[in-house]
Amino acid sequence: MTIPGVNNICVVGAGNMGHQIALCFAIAGYKVKCTDINEEILKKAENFADTYLPQRVAKGKMTEEVAKQARANISFTMDLKEAAKDADVVVEAILEKLDLKRELFAQLDEICPPHTILATNSSFIVSSKIAPVTKRPEKVCNMHFFNPALVMKLVEVVNGPHTSDEVAQKIFDLAKDIGKIPVMLKKEIYGFLVNRILAAINQEALYIYDMGVASYEDIDKAVVYALGHPMGPFRLMDLTGIDLSYYIGMERYQETGDPKHKPSPIIVEKFIKKEWGEKTGKGFYDYTKK
Ligand code: 3HC
Repeated sequence: MTIPGVNNICVVGAGNMGHQIALCFAIAGYKVKCTDINEEILKKAENFADTYLPQRVAKGKMTEEVAKQARANISFTMDLKEAAKDADVVVEAILEKLDLKRELFAQLDEICPPHTILATNSSFIVSSKIAPVTKRPEKVCNMHFFNPALVMKLVEVVNGPHTSDEVAQKIFDLAKDIGKIPVMLKKEIYGFLVNRILAAINQEALYIYDMGVASYEDIDKAVVYALGHPMGPFRLMDLTGIDLSYYIGMERYQETGDPKHKPSPIIVEKFIKKEWGEKTGKGFYDYTKK
């Protein structure tokens, strides 16, 4: 923990990404308050911390001392004000809905001290769409982690047109300090680096599937056993959330009008059926028997 002026972190949203982002900071020695409006999700996040840390110790991947300290570093509360009032950095990881993020950032702007940096972990919403609701646009940026956040090393930091270089650099250094490999995007671009590349792969995989050329299992096999990816695109969509694939597609389609971004029929079907992947127990694959 070596970033000047950064001691307390607040992570808003304890879901798929937020609970692990919070733990990344706690393990690295930061004091973390993790908050969510959903009690069940927050409890699940706390239970995860209670099981994950001892498991790392049992596996010989973490010392007992680090695990103990990490658990002491992290707390969970439904009270946003309590979670954010003394934060030096806030990382937002709530639903991918612009109006909700705007509402939250306006609240955070009121709650947090003037020096607090407000970062969004959004997968595709650039922070210039959020920053104007605050009185500190120069302290707003994207800090994008990958799923599962405790494992994936990359963090994308986006230096938006409103973001000060100093703030972007601080977030870059913070990512490095928690053992991540940050990359700096000098300009805002939709989908940043990774999700642009991933979207191209997913689009092609879904097109081939919708054409009836091959099953999703076989397309996944092709990507794993020929391209060497750790998991195929359908398995990965289950991990990151089919709801997210739907939101990304819809938002991009509405913004560009280009039908190639429209969520494919199978994504729409699964979105409506709430078959969102691991988080709901079923996506392309079934996780209820795991
Ligand atoms: N949470 C925390 N840790 C996990 C985990 C999870 N959900 N899943 C696996 N791990 C850990 C395991 O504990 C293990 O740790 P260890 O080696 O230190 O003991 C390690 O990861 C490897 O796990 P496994 O041996 O059980 O499984 P795999 O070797 O199959 O790895 C995986 C699992 C790391 C998820 C791997 O399949 C992978 O890298 N998949 C690709 C993930 C990816 O592409 N992520 C980016 C998605 S894009 C994104 O997130 C953008 C966003 O905006 C949508």
